[in-house]
Amino acid sequence: MDQQELKKAVGRAALEYVKPGEILGVGTGSTVDCFIDALKESGIDVPACVSSSVRSTQKLQAYGFKVLDLNEVEKIGVYVDGADEIDPHFAMIKGGGGALTREKIVAMVSERFVCIADESKKVDVLGKFPLPIEVIPMAVRAVSREIEKLGGKPVLRDFTTDNGNKILDVHGWQITDAEQWEQKLNQIVGVVTVGLFAKRGADVLLLGTSQGVKTFK
Ligand code: A5P
Repeated sequence: MDQQELKKAVGRAALEYVKPGEILGVGTGSTVDCFIDALKESGIDVPACVSSSVRSTQKLQAYGFKVLDLNEVEKIGVYVDGADEIDPHFAMIKGGGGALTREKIVAMVSERFVCIADESKKVDVLGKFPLPIEVIPMAVRAVSREIEKLGGKPVLRDFTTDNGNKILDVHGWQITDAEQWEQKLNQIVGVVTVGLFAKRGADVLLLGTSQGVKTFK
């Protein structure tokens, strides 16, 4: 199976976690695109979604799903999203698609985070994938200097987030203590969101492999 087939398989597998009649949190990325396709095909009664990006909102609305602002919602049962890397403790690097801030917010208010990923995303140690950090535009240079002091090599992405901010992709870190790093990096003034999802990691991992979809809890 090629990578796209694995993404489709995990997208379909995530349907098992979608409860009819419940508001659904929807992440961002190519794997989530497969999930949204599967959701549409399934015909499951989803009264409304909360989306983590303009991209996913547009796709959901094009299929006729109602998308609510998070401020209109009391609680979300399940949040389905992808990852760029996921470690054995279910800590993740996210933000390859630049939607990390809204993803972290929706994940935070969701009771259950179902991560869907192909097997290339499962790693022993986070950091081969450069860590995305969303930064207030005027603080790009200042935050970059702080990151360099911590041994990271920040590269400014040619991209503006849905929130009007910039992204630094940080190379060179091997992240074993993800929760501590998340906390430390969050404290740099000018940082909006760190693409480390450790404090609120995944609850379930659906991993697409050549032997089929494997579930880790
Ligand atoms: C989006 O900002 C990311 O967090 C995605 O969840 C992550 O990059 C995975 O994307 P793919 O499913 O496209 O690999």
